[in-house]
Amino acid sequence: MKIKQIQARRIWDSRGRPTVEVEVVNDDGTLGIGIAPAGASMGTREAVELRDGGARFKGLDVQAALRGIEREIAPVLIGRDVTQQASIDAALIALDGTPNKARLGGNAAIATSLAVLHAAAAHARLPLWRYLAQGRPVQLPLPQIQIFGGGAHAGRRVDVQDFMVIATGATSFTDALEMTAEVYRSAGEIMAARGQLAGVADEGGWWPSFSRNEEALDTLVAAIERAGLVPGEDVSIALDIASSEFGHAGRYKLALDNAELDSDALCEKLVRWTEKYPIVSIEDPLAEDDEAGLVAFTRAVGHRLQVVGDDYLVTSAERVRAAAALGACNCVLIKPNQAGTVTETHAALEAARAAGYATIVSARSGETEDVAIVHLATGWNAGQLKVGSFARSERMAKWNEAVRIETRPDAPSGFAGKAVLAGRGKE
Ligand code: PGA
Ligand code: ZN
Repeated sequence: MKIKQIQARRIWDSRGRPTVEVEVVNDDGTLGIGIAPAGASMGTREAVELRDGGARFKGLDVQAALRGIEREIAPVLIGRDVTQQASIDAALIALDGTPNKARLGGNAAIATSLAVLHAAAAHARLPLWRYLAQGRPVQLPLPQIQIFGGGAHAGRRVDVQDFMVIATGATSFTDALEMTAEVYRSAGEIMAARGQLAGVADEGGWWPSFSRNEEALDTLVAAIERAGLVPGEDVSIALDIASSEFGHAGRYKLALDNAELDSDALCEKLVRWTEKYPIVSIEDPLAEDDEAGLVAFTRAVGHRLQVVGDDYLVTSAERVRAAAALGACNCVLIKPNQAGTVTETHAALEAARAAGYATIVSARSGETEDVAIVHLATGWNAGQLKVGSFARSERMAKWNEAVRIETRPDAPSGFAGKAVLAGRGKE
């Protein structure tokens, strides 16, 4: 099926900032829409977002990215077979010509690449997850859901970026959401009772009005208990330290705890947290430039804990292979816009799988109503999904899409559950 038409437009993300949407129409009239999300705590090696600069919308407009799609990308892709994702993505990479998609923009590339994918699934008259599964049995992913947002998503009110829960006792996606809904509400009630309720952070997690990073962990455990659930059994804790945001060259400044730590000291602090709290997953425990620290941390806890690479691995197959050779991390965060095309995103996932690493498909802090990542996580059988909190419709749209996928008559063969967590129970 040939591509007939490609249109690019500016839409607005969950922070009210401009972003790129691409619509691909096939010869038979079926179509697909792709939207670029946007990060706030970005890895330095991510595909580059093309932004206009200048005064308008604080420099974040995307007119140059839209022009690139209309003038350069569309003429090359129109007339191509929409089902040939790999060759279309190769054309996008070649057209851009830079190693990090800086010329035409990673935002232009991922919106186009995802639109092509959606258009191919629409032509096949299949839900996207089923189109990607290609007849293989797949499972709904285990969700990581934020309860408190911090770091760059909450004006650095606390240093740690995501305080999340994983419903380790859940037997279905629906079950996981039910438990999380109770924990999220309980956390809000605790904050209100203490006079600490102050709205929500960028991904919908409660605003972290805490005086120490550990106070968030204590409150999270209290919220799980208040919900009538058993911490560490029904519901466990996952953290995204996002430490590249406060650490460089082996020095980490924890503003809230008024401490400057070296790599070893931060490692020790995090290991203590994992001994004190029911933590099953830690993302970016050390900064993207602290490879030795990441290797040491993984060596210390990787047998019993999931160690996730986000800023460090940036959804790059090459970087995943290099990390696996060193023994850094045991799980890869998969963000399509870090890579810039669907094909490169899938290659990173396959590289993780080949290394025996777990995978988590992830949203960004700047999102839209787009639910593509739920289909990628399911259709690629990634095992886990990270979307942000349990509030705000750019997040709920994704959780709700998973409920639809799980409850339709043609549902996937099951739910991943806690068995997909890396390092769990291997003590
Ligand atoms: P970002 O954060 O989308 O703001 O980069 C998400 C994450 O670090 O996982
Ligand atoms: Zn992260």
